[in-house]
Amino acid sequence: MNLKIETINRLQGVKEIPGDKSISHRSLMIGAIANGLTEIENCSTAADPMSTLKCIEQLGISVENKSGKLQINGKGRFGLKKSLSPLDAGNSGTTIRLLSGILVGQSFPSIITGDFSLVKRPMKRIIDPLRLMGANIRGSDKDTAPIIIEPVNKLKAISYELPVPSAQVKSCIIFAGLYAEGTTTVIERIRTRDHTERMLGLDTHESNGFYSVSVSPDHKIEGKKFFVPGDISAAAFLMAAGLLVKKSKIIIKNVGLNPTRKKILDIFISMGGKIEIENEKMIEGEPIADLVVQNSELHSNIELRKADVVDLIDEIPILAVTCMFADGKLTVRDAKELRTKETDRISAIVNNLRLLGCEVEEYEDGFAFESKKNYKPNILPSYGDHRIAMAFGIAGLLIEGVILENADCVDISFPNFWNILLGK
Ligand code: S3P
Repeated sequence: MNLKIETINRLQGVKEIPGDKSISHRSLMIGAIANGLTEIENCSTAADPMSTLKCIEQLGISVENKSGKLQINGKGRFGLKKSLSPLDAGNSGTTIRLLSGILVGQSFPSIITGDFSLVKRPMKRIIDPLRLMGANIRGSDKDTAPIIIEPVNKLKAISYELPVPSAQVKSCIIFAGLYAEGTTTVIERIRTRDHTERMLGLDTHESNGFYSVSVSPDHKIEGKKFFVPGDISAAAFLMAAGLLVKKSKIIIKNVGLNPTRKKILDIFISMGGKIEIENEKMIEGEPIADLVVQNSELHSNIELRKADVVDLIDEIPILAVTCMFADGKLTVRDAKELRTKETDRISAIVNNLRLLGCEVEEYEDGFAFESKKNYKPNILPSYGDHRIAMAFGIAGLLIEGVILENADCVDISFPNFWNILLGK
C-alpha cells in the first residue's frame, strides 16, 4: 500500500501502543520451556512476536487467548516436539536468533528460516558461539538462514565475550546455557538490553566496566504471570509526532522505561522536548510510566558514538527524522550495525533524507546532516522496514506531499500505527 500522508497541525489525546516487542518474544519462549502455565498480559500482537508464537505452536506448545491474556501450557525445557515443517521466523531477527539457542538443546532436528529480509541477515554471530558449546548448527554458505540444527548428545558451558554488542546474541547463548553442562557466562563491554536475564531471574555482575550474566541447567523455570509494558521503541514515533506537530499534547500510557531502553526519552528531553513522566511504577521488575508529550521547540547538537548507538539501536531512524525539524546537527558514527537490520538502515535513512532535500554525509559507519528550514515533497521507499516507514511517515506530517511506499510494513512492530497516530 502506498500512503499519501496529510500534514496536520494538532495531535491530542491518549495514544495506545503495543506491548514491548522484545519482552513479548521472550515471555512466549520462556513460557514454552517453563514448567506449567504461563499467563502473558499485554503481549504484542504485531507480526514479529506472532512469528514467535507460531513457532512455539509448531513445536507442540498450546497457546490460548483468554480475554486478551495469552495462556501458554509450558512443557518444561525438554517438552518441545519436532516441527513437521521448517519453522518460519518471518521478518523477526529476535525469533530466529533466540529460538536457535533453545533448539540446539533439543533431542530433535530443526530448520528455521524467514522472509526475504531475514535470510540476508548475519547469523554467524550466533552460529560461532553455539558451535563452541558443541551444537551442530549450520547456515547457508554465507552463514545466513535457513539455519539447520541437528541434535547432539550434550552441550558444554562457555564463557563468551560478545564481539558485537547484541542482546539477541546474548539471549541466544543464555537460552543455550539452560541446556549446557556447567555454568555459561556471557560478558559484555557495552551493556545491551537486559530483559532475558531479568525475566529468567539470572545472576548478573558488573566490574571494571564489564557486565556479565551467568546461567546453568539447574536454573528452575516455573510458569508465571508476565505483564508486558508498552514498547518504548514504538512510543518513540508517537513522542516525536507529539513534539513536532504544532498544538499537540498527547498521553502515552504504561511505557516501559527499562534503563537499557530509555535513552531516546533522555535525548528528546535534552533536545528541549517537553515530556512529563507521570505515574512511575515497577511491574514485575520493569519500570513503567505514562508520558505526557507536548509540542516543543527542539535543538540538536548531537554526536552519537558506540555506546549511545547500542542504547538507541532501534530509534536512530526516528531520531534522524526528529533532528530534521530541530535546530542543529546530528552526527551518528560507530553505527555499522545499522547496515545489518531489517534493511541497511544507514543507506535507507540517508536516501530518504536526501529525497526530502537534506544535504547528508554518508559514512560506512553512520551519517551526518544539519537541519534546514524547508524540505521538498517526494515519494519515499520504506524498504519494507517498519521503523523506516514509521519514521518517514512522521516526516510526512510536517512536509506537504509525502507519499510512503509499502506503508503496511509497520505491522511488523506496530499494528494499526497509522490510525492510532492520526486518531482515526
Ligand atoms: C532486540 C535486540 C536488538 C534490536 C531488536 C530487538 C532484542 O537487536 O535491534 O529490534 O529483542 O533482543 P540486536 O541485539 O541484534 O542489536
